[in-house]
Amino acid sequence: MSADASPLDRTEALSATVVDHPFVERVYQKMAGVYDYTFGPTLHPGRLDAIRRMAIHPGDRVLEVGVGTGINLSLYPRMCQITGIDLSSKMLEKAQARIVSKGLSHCRVSEMNAEQLAFPDGWFDVVYAPYVISVVPDPVKVAREMYRVCRPGGRVVILNHFKSANRWLSKLEVAISPMTVHIGFKADLDLDGFLSQAELTPISIEKVNVPRMWSLVTCVKR
Ligand SMILES: C[S@@+](CC[C@H](N)C(=O)[O-])C[C@H]1O[C@@H](n2cnc3c(N)ncnc32)[C@H](O)[C@@H]1O
Repeated sequence: MSADASPLDRTEALSATVVDHPFVERVYQKMAGVYDYTFGPTLHPGRLDAIRRMAIHPGDRVLEVGVGTGINLSLYPRMCQITGIDLSSKMLEKAQARIVSKGLSHCRVSEMNAEQLAFPDGWFDVVYAPYVISVVPDPVKVAREMYRVCRPGGRVVILNHFKSANRWLSKLEVAISPMTVHIGFKADLDLDGFLSQAELTPISIEKVNVPRMWSLVTCVKR
């Protein structure tokens, strides 16, 4: 496991906590059975806001990065094609079962690392990462891959918790981050540093969920 305080410069590291892929995969293999109960209803309003921000058109190709148990799959309009990818086979088993049980024939899922997406440049109209960017070891690499596979004029949408602008709350988030990684996320990811290193210029950043501690970041590819 690697989930320690990082000696790296904070701006560079974006979080005081470092994780690697095997650690993240193990966490989600274990969480697959309980994920929908623990992170289902509380994070759902943000998922609904994100669908609206995607401005999906009939026939659009949509990529969901970190599709997990497929909790978003029934939210997408049926007249588009949804591809979901995830690192965890156990989370994907749940997603596949959901596709079958709900008859979601416009959705397919496969095992893939978000840092190396096996899709051509510009393949998707919308690329979406719900509650994933603070989970992965290298958020900037994932964001760059998302941008690469999005077509010019398409949307890159990121829904995530980022470190608070409040001084005391942010100190708390840095302190608890080595613990929250064990339930799947870093609590202290720096939004400004992330956007600047990933070279993303959002058209909007909205606060979502209750309390409004999560950010919905919408970008249009140039
Ligand atoms: C917090 S869950 C989000 C699930 C779902 N998107 C949602 O809205 O609740 C994060 C998901 O990201 C996946 N994940 C973590 N690292 C990944 C990576 N490098 N590539 C692809 N998926 C990854 C995890 O396995 C997990 O299923």
